[in-house]
Amino acid sequence: MKNNTQKTSRLLKMVMVFSCMLTMVFLVANRANAHKEAHDAETLKAFDDEFIANVILGDRLYHGDPAAAEEMGVVLSKTGMACAMCHPKGSDIHPYEFPKFQEQMSEFAALRNMINWCIEKPNEGEVIDADGEAMKALEAYMYWSTKGSVLDPGRH
Ligand code: HEC
Repeated sequence: MKNNTQKTSRLLKMVMVFSCMLTMVFLVANRANAHKEAHDAETLKAFDDEFIANVILGDRLYHGDPAAAEEMGVVLSKTGMACAMCHPKGSDIHPYEFPKFQEQMSEFAALRNMINWCIEKPNEGEVIDADGEAMKALEAYMYWSTKGSVLDPGRH
């Protein structure tokens, strides 16, 4: 009787191990399939157009274009100072250093946190949605400005 119970439990264990292995094989096989197909030229162009459209929008916001701010429903500054007046180019704020401990904020900050700090403090503007379209465009412009730089997160 005891022997039978032991046998059943051993069998159960084997079944469990086998199903775990099957699941893993399935997951690995599925992951291998992701990005396997190369994008065709038309799709790549569509992705690039979307990227460049965001860079252009970010550039306009960064340089204080009132039409762009109105379009996006954001108030990035109430002092009359655009980002570019203190940081002439998007690359001047070295986006490749983020995230890092930011002394002005006394906290560990991602690029978008610092963007909002500047909007709120020196610019006396209205903080923007960290996941919103205007933030994504500002980030796109800054990263585009520094394209090719070596990532160096945490640097000061
Ligand atoms: C009146 C001047 C002024 C304006 C306008 C301004 N900033 Fe700043 N910004 C600062 C100061 C001061 C710092 C902190 C010192 C530093 O890190 O260079 C800073 C730092 C930053 C940093 C971090 C740079 C780093 O390497 O740590 C980012 C990002 C940034 N600003 C983005 C913006 C954006 C985006 C705007 C426009 C919405 C903007 N700033 C407008 C003064 C300004």
